[in-house]
Amino acid sequence: MASSIFSLLFLTIFLVSLSHVLSYSSKNLLDSHDPMKTMAEKFIRQLNLFPKHDINIIVPSKDQIVDQQRLFEKKLILSYLGHSGATVQDLAHHAGYYHLLHTKAARMFYFFFESRNNKNDPVVMWLTGGPGCSSELALFYENGPFRISHNMSLVWNEFGWDKVSNLIYIDQPTGTGFSYTSDNRDIRHNEADISNDLYDFIQAFFNAHPEYVNNDLYITGESYAGHYIPAFASRVHQGNKKKEGIHINLKGFAIGNGMTNPEIQFKSYTDYALDMKLINQTDYDNINKLYPKCQQQINSCGTGGEDACLYAFQDCTNIFSSIMDIVGDKNYYDIRKTCEGNLCYDFSRMETYLNDNQVKRALGVGDIEFVSCSSIVKQALGTDMMKSFVVGIPPLLEDGINLLIYAGEYDLMCNWLGNSNWVHAMEWSGKRDFGAAPSINFTVEGEDKGVQKNHGPLTFLKVHDAGHMVPMDQPKAALAMLQRWTQGKLSNT
Ligand SMILES: *[C@@H]1O[C@H](CO)[C@@H](O)[C@H](O)[C@H]1NC(C)=O
Ligand SMILES: *[C@@H]1O[C@H](CO)[C@@H](O)[C@H](O)[C@H]1NC(C)=O
Ligand SMILES: *[C@@H]1O[C@H](CO)[C@@H](O)[C@H](O)[C@H]1NC(C)=O
Repeated sequence: MASSIFSLLFLTIFLVSLSHVLSYSSKNLLDSHDPMKTMAEKFIRQLNLFPKHDINIIVPSKDQIVDQQRLFEKKLILSYLGHSGATVQDLAHHAGYYHLLHTKAARMFYFFFESRNNKNDPVVMWLTGGPGCSSELALFYENGPFRISHNMSLVWNEFGWDKVSNLIYIDQPTGTGFSYTSDNRDIRHNEADISNDLYDFIQAFFNAHPEYVNNDLYITGESYAGHYIPAFASRVHQGNKKKEGIHINLKGFAIGNGMTNPEIQFKSYTDYALDMKLINQTDYDNINKLYPKCQQQINSCGTGGEDACLYAFQDCTNIFSSIMDIVGDKNYYDIRKTCEGNLCYDFSRMETYLNDNQVKRALGVGDIEFVSCSSIVKQALGTDMMKSFVVGIPPLLEDGINLLIYAGEYDLMCNWLGNSNWVHAMEWSGKRDFGAAPSINFTVEGEDKGVQKNHGPLTFLKVHDAGHMVPMDQPKAALAMLQRWTQGKLSNT
C-alpha cells in the first residue's frame, strides 16, 4: 500500500500467467476476460474496492478541466464536522489538476492541505504505492486531516499530518485515482519517467505557491513508494545541482514499509517468517532453496535485461507465495489479522465518498471516475518491480539530506527485517557508525512505541503494534515521528 499496497502476490500469480498468455497473443493483456485481470480484480477486492475502470484513460468531456492553465487548483468546500481548532474559513484546503509537461495529455490530481498550525511548517508530499493505488487511501485511512465516518461524513483526524505540515497527496502514476489521460502512451513503465513527472509537478506547484518555496520539503510515502521516493529525491537533487527551474528545498525523504532493495528484501521473507513462527525450520530450509534463482534473476534484471526482470519477479514471488501457502488466510499486511472470506481490509468508504457527485463537484474532477487501484498501472510496471533503488541514496546522505526508514513490525509484505537489512548493508561514509549505533526506545508520551537507530542523516525506526500502514495502526506515534524527524529531534544525539 502503499499503502499500498498491494501485491506482490497478485502480480505473482499474474505474471506466472503472463508468460503463458504472451505465448498466445500480447493483445490479451488488455482483454477483460484475461485470467490475470481476474486475479488483479480479486486482489483489489480483498480491500473491498471495486474500481469501475482498470485505469483512467478517458475521452475528456467539454466541461472537464479548464485547460488554459497548466495547474488548475480549486479551494475545497466540503462539509467538515467537529472542532478542528480552526474555522472552516481559515482552512486552506485545495484540490487540483496539473497538466503534466512531458506527456501527450496527462493530468495529475492532488490534494493540498495547508497546515492547521503554521504556514511555516514544512511541506510534506505523500505517495501511496501499489503500484497503482491512490494516495487517498492514506488521506482517509492513515494520516490525512479527516476520516470518513460510517455515515459518510468527514470527521477530523486528531493525528492528521497537517497538524505539523503543509500536506500534499498525489494520485500517480498517470491513470491512478483521479489522475487521467486520453492517450495510452502516457502510461508509465519506469521510475525515470515517474520521477520526471513528479519533478515537473513540484516545480509547477511552487510556481503557483511561491509563499512555500522556502519551506523545508520532505518526500514521504509507503510500500511501492520505496521505489518512487528514492528515485524522485534523486531527481530533485540533480535538478537543484544543475540549477534547473526553481530550487527545491529538499530536506529529507521517508519510506514506510517500503520495497526498495528486492535482492535483500526477498532474502528476508523466510527469516522474518521463521522469527514470527509463521513457518518452521523445515519449511524455512525448503523455501530458501528458491532464493539462489531469484537472486540470480534479480542480478540479471539489474544489469539491463527487461525479460530477466519479469523472470526475477516470477522466481522471487514464488518465495512469497510458498510462505503464504503455509500461513493460510492471515493478512500479509498485518500478520496478527485474519482475512475473512475475500476481505482483508475494508477501504470501501473512500470509493463511495469520492464517487459521490456532490463531492466530485467540490473537487472539480468533472465526470472522472475514481480508480482506487489500477491493475493496468501496476501491470505496466512489471519490469520496474525487481529493480533496486538504493544506489541513488548515498549521494543524498553525503549531502546531508535526511532519510527515515520506518516499518510496522507485523507487516510481512515489506517487513521491518528486510528493510533493516538493506539499510545496514547500504554503502556510504556513515555505514560503520550506523551499524555500531545503539538501538534506543522510541517513546511517545511515556509509552514505548518502537525502537530506533540513528547516525547522521540516517534513521531506522521499527514501530510496535503496527502492520503495513503505520499511521493507520499507530496514528499518534506516526504523527510524533513526523514532527520529531522534521524538527531534527528524532536522532539519538
Ligand atoms: C455521523 O457520524 C459522526 C461521527 O460518528 C457524528 O459525529 C455525526 O453526528 C454523524 N452525523 C449524522 C448526520 O448522523
Ligand atoms: C513444519 O510445518 C509443516 C507444514 O508447514 C509440517 O508439515 C511439518 O510437519 C512441520 N515440521 C516440523 C518438524 O514440525
Ligand atoms: C524499551 O521498551 C521495552 C518495551 O518495548 C521495555 O520493555 C524496555 O524496558 C524499554 N527500555 C528502556 C530503557 O526504557
